[in-house]
Amino acid sequence: MTRENQVDSLFSLTGKVAVVTGGSRGIGAMIARGFLERGVKTYITSRKPKELQATADEFSKLGECIAIQSDLSTMDGVKTFAEAIKAREPKIHILVNNAGATWGADIDEYPESGWDKVMDLNVKSIFFLKAKSNQFQLRVSLATTLP
Ligand SMILES: NC(=O)c1ccc[n+]([C@@H]2O[C@H](COP(=O)([O-])OP(=O)(O)OC[C@H]3O[C@@H](n4cnc5c(N)ncnc54)[C@H](OP(=O)(O)O)[C@@H]3O)[C@@H](O)[C@H]2O)c1
Repeated sequence: MTRENQVDSLFSLTGKVAVVTGGSRGIGAMIARGFLERGVKTYITSRKPKELQATADEFSKLGECIAIQSDLSTMDGVKTFAEAIKAREPKIHILVNNAGATWGADIDEYPESGWDKVMDLNVKSIFFLKAKSNQFQLRVSLATTLP
């Protein structure tokens, strides 16, 4: 085995299982694509089912990409999504907490609803999805959102 092959095998992700939240577009879709190109079975989730399924269909040319619709801004959404994953996989190796929202307004006019929207998705959902993920033996959890 060449040195290059040894390094490839040492850092190989082949056969691993990943979940990418907000994987239907943007940075999440880029991350999902990267996993699929490296042999990772990849679950993607987001709210809009058509867009999500279209991405999964396109990415399925690269590897096994499964779409599960969710709204992770609510506790019910987090719980339902975690249960859907648990029903399919005994173990998840990588969870990428990428789904996120922003709200721009002057501080004097910043609405509480905007604060809640950002905090529910960018902070609360990450904490509780991670907590629920312990049920399916999560190995690594990452976030693109910095609370
Ligand atoms: N773009 C940047 O320059 C930048 C810089 C720093 C950090 N980030 C962070 O990186 C992450 C991705 O950014 P992006 O620019 O790629 O965002 P984006 O294009 O707006 O994509 C967001 C993704 O999250 C999904 N999503 C939104 N709300 C959701 C919810 N309630 N439940 C489940 N999925 C939901 C969206 O699909 P649906 O709308 O269908 O739900 C979409 O797939 C975000 O957390 C963002 O804060 C981005």
